[in-house]
Amino acid sequence: MNLVSSLSDLREKRLSLMGKVGLVPTMGYLHPGHLSLVAKAAEECDHVIVSIFVNPTQFGANEDLSKYPRDLERDIKLLSSLSLPSSAKELIVWNPSAEIMYPPGYQTWVEVEALTHPLEGAMRPGHFKGVTTIVSKLFNATQPHKAYFGQKDAQQVAVIRRMTLDLNFPIEIVVCPTVREADGLAMSSRNKYLNEEERKAATVLFRSLSEAKQLYEAGERNADALRNKMKEVLDSEPLAKTQYVSCADYDSLEELNTITGKTLLSMAVFIGKTRLIDNFVLE
Ligand code: PAJ
Repeated sequence: MNLVSSLSDLREKRLSLMGKVGLVPTMGYLHPGHLSLVAKAAEECDHVIVSIFVNPTQFGANEDLSKYPRDLERDIKLLSSLSLPSSAKELIVWNPSAEIMYPPGYQTWVEVEALTHPLEGAMRPGHFKGVTTIVSKLFNATQPHKAYFGQKDAQQVAVIRRMTLDLNFPIEIVVCPTVREADGLAMSSRNKYLNEEERKAATVLFRSLSEAKQLYEAGERNADALRNKMKEVLDSEPLAKTQYVSCADYDSLEELNTITGKTLLSMAVFIGKTRLIDNFVLE
C-alpha cells in the first residue's frame, strides 16, 4: 500500500500506473461499507486509488464538520489488512490537505441543477455543490477508468452520474449495494455518534423501509400508501424524528403518485442529534 498526500506525488504515481485504475472516493473513518467498494474496485481494476478527504464544502454551517470522525492510522491499517485479489497490483491511498483541494482564493464550483433540488438537496442546501465540486476535482487528479460509489447515498449516485455525463468524464460509475449491520442498520461513519439506546432505535429506518417494501411486494402501487407506511413505522419509535420520507422515480428523483418503474424509497431521520439516511430500490 502506498500513501501519498501531495498532488505532485499523486500525479507521478498515477503516470506510472499501467492498466485500469479504479477510484474509491471517501471521507475516511472507514467501515465495511467503504471496504466493499475497495474490494469491488480491486476485483475489476488493475490499480485502486482510495481518496480520504473530509470535504469541508459539503458540510452546512450547522453540520458536523469539526466533529466528523477522523483516524488516518486506523484507515490505513484497515486497508492494509484487506485481502485483495493478486490481480490488483497497487493500492494507493491519497490523503490531500484542504489547502491542496481548495487553494487560497478558491472560487470555482461544479453544480448539478434539478436533481439536487429535492430530498437531501432540500434539507442540506449547498451540500451537493460541495460533493460535485470535490468529486470532479478527484476525477481530474486521479484520472480513473472507473469510480465506485455506494447505493447508501442514492441521490449522490444520481447526481454524480448526471455530472459525469454532462461534463463528459470518460469514467464508468459503479454502484455497490448498501452494507448493513446484522440488524439491518446501514453502516455509516455517523453511527459512531449513537449511544446504546439510540443505536437500538436506529433500526427503525430499516424496519420502516422493509414494511413499505412488503406492501409493494403484496401489490401496492400507490406511492402515498408506501410513504404513509414508512412514516407510521418511524413514528412508532419515540427517539426518531422524521425529516422526510420519499417514494420517487429512481432516475429523476421526482415524487410519484403511482409506481410504474424503478423506484427509490428513501428517508432522513434524526435519532437524537444524529441524522441518518437510508433507502431501498424497488425494481
Ligand atoms: P463517505 O460518506 O465517506 O462515503 C464514501 C463512499 O462509501 C460513498 O460512495 C458512500 O455511498 C459509500 N458508503 C457509505 N456507507 C456505505 C454502506 N453502508 N454500504 C455501501 N457503501 C457505503 O460519500 C462520501 O463520503 C462523500 O460525499 C464523497 C463522495 C467522498 C465526496 O466527498
